[in-house]
Amino acid sequence: MNSVYKAVKISKNVYWVGAIDWNIRDFHGYTTRRGTTYNAYLVLSDKITLIDTVREPFRDEMLSRIASIINPQDIRFIVSNHSEMDHTGCLAAVMDIVKPDEVYASVVGAETLREMYSIDGVIPIKDGGTLDLGTMTLSFMETRMLHWPDSMFSFVNEEKVLFSHDAFGMHLASSERFADEIDQSILDYEGATYFANILLPYAQLVLKLIEKVDKLGYEFEVVAPDHGPVWRESFDRVLKLYSTWALQQPLKKAVVVYATMWHSTELMARAISEGLARSGVDVKLMSMAENHRSDVAYEVLDAGALIVGSPTLNNNVFPSIADVLTYLKGLRPRNLIGAAFGSYGWSGESIRQIEDILKEMKVDLVSDAVSTKHVPDFHVIDQCFSLGKMIGEQLDKRVTTT
Ligand code: FEO
Repeated sequence: MNSVYKAVKISKNVYWVGAIDWNIRDFHGYTTRRGTTYNAYLVLSDKITLIDTVREPFRDEMLSRIASIINPQDIRFIVSNHSEMDHTGCLAAVMDIVKPDEVYASVVGAETLREMYSIDGVIPIKDGGTLDLGTMTLSFMETRMLHWPDSMFSFVNEEKVLFSHDAFGMHLASSERFADEIDQSILDYEGATYFANILLPYAQLVLKLIEKVDKLGYEFEVVAPDHGPVWRESFDRVLKLYSTWALQQPLKKAVVVYATMWHSTELMARAISEGLARSGVDVKLMSMAENHRSDVAYEVLDAGALIVGSPTLNNNVFPSIADVLTYLKGLRPRNLIGAAFGSYGWSGESIRQIEDILKEMKVDLVSDAVSTKHVPDFHVIDQCFSLGKMIGEQLDKRVTTT
């Protein structure tokens, strides 16, 4: 073990022993421009316990941080709160090195670890279960489908530390370990981007989870997620933001997403954006040649309108629009109105295809699509402007009355 990597104390007897991935830029389809961290934690109780592990290439970094405070072979228990590979990729190897007495996971987690890595003998813990660590107690709470079926929280009652796996995390590599050391605007942006791209499909469950955490009646002093910084203050603010994001109450904001081949659909997109802006709506005009799908997800999180345009390429919607719509459909944003638009050269099937996907997404189509053959003339540009203005006015009414 080298002596470069150190553990960081996050409460009296709990240490961060994770790894920093400065370079990752694609996290299963989500662009992570600021990298990420894989957080693991060591509870220095009578029975020393490791909470989660890290992505496989970072195993030695984690073991070095552990070795900076204890002999890794003194670890008696390992708890896996979430079995996705970024937290379990090195679990089997770490078990070989550490030889813990027991490994614990949720009921589904124990099964998942067996299926994924052929790790047998993981002890399943039920919701509400506890584990006696000698000088401390670890409690467990299932958070099923947030965001995997196996996910669970664990917390150290004596030190008021919550290990929240992916929840309350963000993809942010930093040399600072605590959120209060990082610029608030970065935390808000990366937190919202993470919620939009990872947790949005389970928004209703997030609201229930917040109630469940409230009912516990604990005042957690430290919240330790599996990605990004550790919260040792302002956790109430984080909970409020999670409620806001989960409720998806729209702002007067519209996202216009488009692709273009010869700039005709782009001309239409710009005219729609002008109409939206004229009605007092905040507009995000996003070309899919210049924006990533996960940036669109971030913008849609608090938007009230989604307007999508595409040329027709070989009887189909343009590939980058198919990409972003497939991604957004999976994220299940709610409370959106919208419409389709686009220019075509021969047959124009893309418009109907966009409308079909928007309907599947439960976007309320408040207007017929605007489409045109070849380059839009000034009549079509006027139509686009009117479409934007009308959607803006509709959005204004909806936002004002909700
Ligand atoms: Fe960070 Fe769902 O894994």
